Amino acid sequence: MKKRILLIEDSQSLASLYQSYLEAGGYMIVTVETGRDAIVQILREPPDVVLLDLKLPDMDGMDILKRIQQDDLPCTVIVMTAHGSIDIAVNAMQYGAFDFLVKPFDARRLQVTVKNALANNNLVKEVQGYREQFARRHYEGFIGESLPMQGVYRIIDCAAPSNATVFITGESGVGKEVCAEAIHNRSPRKPGPFVPLNCGAIPKDLMESEIFGHVKGAYTGALNNRDGAATQAHRGTLFLDEICEMDLELQTKLLRFIQTGTFQRVGGSQQETVDVRFVCATNRDPLQEVQAGRFREDLYYRLHVIPIYLPPLRERETDIKLLMESFLREYAKQENKRFTRFSPEAVNIMMAHNWPGNVRELQNVIRNIVVLNNDEAVTPDMIPFHAASRASSSPQRPSAPQFEQPLSAEPGQEDTPIKPLWLIEKEAIEQAIEHCGGNIPKAAAMLDVSASTIYRKKEKWEQEQAIT
Ligand SMILES: Nc1ncnc2c1ncn2[C@@H]1O[C@H](COP(=O)(O)OP(=O)(O)OP(=O)(O)O)[C@@H](O)[C@H]1O
Ligand SMILES: [Mg+2]
Repeated sequence: MKKRILLIEDSQSLASLYQSYLEAGGYMIVTVETGRDAIVQILREPPDVVLLDLKLPDMDGMDILKRIQQDDLPCTVIVMTAHGSIDIAVNAMQYGAFDFLVKPFDARRLQVTVKNALANNNLVKEVQGYREQFARRHYEGFIGESLPMQGVYRIIDCAAPSNATVFITGESGVGKEVCAEAIHNRSPRKPGPFVPLNCGAIPKDLMESEIFGHVKGAYTGALNNRDGAATQAHRGTLFLDEICEMDLELQTKLLRFIQTGTFQRVGGSQQETVDVRFVCATNRDPLQEVQAGRFREDLYYRLHVIPIYLPPLRERETDIKLLMESFLREYAKQENKRFTRFSPEAVNIMMAHNWPGNVRELQNVIRNIVVLNNDEAVTPDMIPFHAASRASSSPQRPSAPQFEQPLSAEPGQEDTPIKPLWLIEKEAIEQAIEHCGGNIPKAAAMLDVSASTIYRKKEKWEQEQAIT
């Protein structure tokens, strides 16, 4: 496609001279004389390159430049100034101009500058495309820039436009529902309904009616005809959440529905046909459920067309930080609190936590901090799981920590001076922390390990202590 150049020059003779300079380049050149016409052109269809004379009859060329920058329009600007106004040209560069030409200039100078501007344009587009494709920090409802999440975004990109069934797995709170909605919102079904149905939350005998609906009088209490999720999701997406909780008998009916797109309401005799796309999710291991006989194998294979596994939060360290900061900003605003950041110690504690409840747990922790405190920075004492673990390991507690007594590993070895390695390590860490007045990052620096290593180990000891 021809590259488009907008030439903004109020002198007609200069405009035609520059146009003749650029003729050989095969560009599509539009010339305007006033700032007003220039803005109309730019907004109608941003050109690839704008050649901008800064002195215009109706406005300052700089205002056009500012407008292009403000609106983040994808055009590269070259300003043209009179001899002796280099400082203005430099100023223009600060407002995002790519280069400047001092009048009078020759054909060669103009051609090279325009060529460079176009090359720069391509590069910028390429980088933007690369960023969008490979390093997205936000994607639909997701926040996350880790490598595994980039993989998830790419699968959604590819899978969303098709009608293929998606099977989402992952621990509780990793974002399976966020994922299902992202698939719907990226699909051509977006204008249609997204209908989530939690197969684990509805009593078994009501489930069939929830999916397929019922006719009046189908059972006691069925006073009217009622649409089920299948009907509601027509031309949209049906999200079957916690699919492994579904009753085996109903699984058979679901299989038939998926295979044929047709079903019968409870108590009804007519076949209904709908057009739905299925997305399902579970936090169990579906294959294990199949092996245990709790999930129909044929249904499993019918649903398991495009699997998406959402990795637990503890395996996405870069996301923990991003999510923490984002939730802190969001909740501080909602709760009218001053919080803007985490202290470095607080960051270390959050990073070292295991997050068994994943993103949901992280949300709860931050909400708790924001509601119960008010400061600019989150400090360790505000973090609920940290405060609790400190209280439980305080010396006042009657049950003395098990590991604080020297242990004898094997009978008959009571008197040996040799201690297990883990105990030596634990004692060394505790000694260092005490020496540093409880400052874990300082102790970590002295031991030449990262603070998060110490937090992890402490957490493990506390867990082991809780078990015994
Ligand atoms: N990457 C993410 N970015 C922002 N918010 C997220 C992300 N992942 C999850 N959440 C939020 O965390 C909460 C839990 O997510 P969701 O309900 O999708 O998890 P789930 O995997 O379906 O959990 P469960 O198995 O318990 O049903 C929701 O409030 C969701 O908005
Ligand atoms: Mg869920």
